[in-house]
Amino acid sequence: MPTSIDVFAKVRGHEREQLLRAAREADLMPYFRTVSSPAMPVVEMEGAPRIMLASNNYLGLTADERVMKGAEDALHRYGTGLTGSRLLNGTTLLHLELERELAEWMGSEDAIVFTTGYQANPGTLGTLLGPGDTVIVDSADHASILDGALISRAKMRPFRHNRLDRLEHALERAEGDGGGALVVVDGVFSMEGDVAPLVDIAELCASHGARLMVDEAHGAGVLGARGAGACELLGVEDRVDLRMGTFSKSLAACGGFVTGPAEVIDYLRIASRAFLFTASAVPAALGAALAALKIVRSDEGSALLASVLERASYLADGLQALGFCLGGGEPVRTGPGQDAPLASIRTPIIPVIVGDDWKAALLWRALYDGGVFTNCVIHPAVPPSGALLRTSVMATHDHDTLDRALEVFARVKREFEAQHGPLPEPQHGAAT
Ligand SMILES: Cc1ncc(COP(=O)(O)O)c(C=O)c1O
Repeated sequence: MPTSIDVFAKVRGHEREQLLRAAREADLMPYFRTVSSPAMPVVEMEGAPRIMLASNNYLGLTADERVMKGAEDALHRYGTGLTGSRLLNGTTLLHLELERELAEWMGSEDAIVFTTGYQANPGTLGTLLGPGDTVIVDSADHASILDGALISRAKMRPFRHNRLDRLEHALERAEGDGGGALVVVDGVFSMEGDVAPLVDIAELCASHGARLMVDEAHGAGVLGARGAGACELLGVEDRVDLRMGTFSKSLAACGGFVTGPAEVIDYLRIASRAFLFTASAVPAALGAALAALKIVRSDEGSALLASVLERASYLADGLQALGFCLGGGEPVRTGPGQDAPLASIRTPIIPVIVGDDWKAALLWRALYDGGVFTNCVIHPAVPPSGALLRTSVMATHDHDTLDRALEVFARVKREFEAQHGPLPEPQHGAAT
């Protein structure tokens, strides 16, 4: 008998439909706004210049002449697309050079380049784990990690965001699951910008015999003296088994990578479905990423890394002085041993906590009209009642531009609170 259930039924009357319809009707829709210039500190958006506080172009390299030349050279040498899998006709000398350079940068034996950062996570988890194994994830991990955990069919044991006691409990439970265990965390969490307590996590993994993988999408090209990420900054590189990263943030392009032991990376090359059954990235993306990586690894890169963190502190201090409540997480241990100092680590992601979804959309719109573009983040990207405006800086934001943005924030806050009541107050001890 034919089924009477229409799979399209779920697109009508779903939980977000009402909210989205109301947002559209009130012209408050914060998503799918069109940009018509490169991701610079000030962009052209829908007919007006707006200060861009929503980009992951942390080092400001997307319109750098050398990075554009890297893209252009690759385009002219290899054409617009490689039209095939890495396994077959889609591997170029550019891939090999990029993989060598990435492995060297991360201090790892080998690296593998995926077409997107997203694919790197399922492409790794789905290959290394299987039924019988356990994958332990932080509840705030990126969707690509959670999706990778799901497709692996390993037993998933999520623990509450950054709660080491819950991680330890999950590791204990995993010992009884019967297979291997892999812990996967973001080094820098993408919405709140907080850093995972990697020293403690690495110790717990070692004491329970679990492997550890860190997603450095927002850490690589940002943290550490080499810009290799949160693992470098916290001195745990030799205790982390696999590191994932992306080209779509500091490396100013699109694509992803995983670094680790040569035997594992080589296995991914022949067994990872997200690597094998998709076309290789467009050459221009690879050429841009390689050129950006060379800049990151040069003396100029050190200056850019220092600059993005300085700009982040500048904006965060300014927002805090205006009375905004900023997220940013708890201090983390910065070295081995119980007496290693704790530090609050500032990253370029500065979340302005709002709480209510609708208020977040109203505040977003007022800032947008004032010429400042932020990311409006609501449930399910954050927990319920955890709506926030995610702001982020680039190394190339100058203080004048940030001051102009802060003036808009100040005015909008006054007007918003007069109409809608107080926004959450600043928390003490937040990273600056
Ligand atoms: C933590 C994290 N991991 C993975 C990804 C996926 O990377 P990409 O957007 O380059 O595919 C992102 C990007 O949003 C991310 O924030």
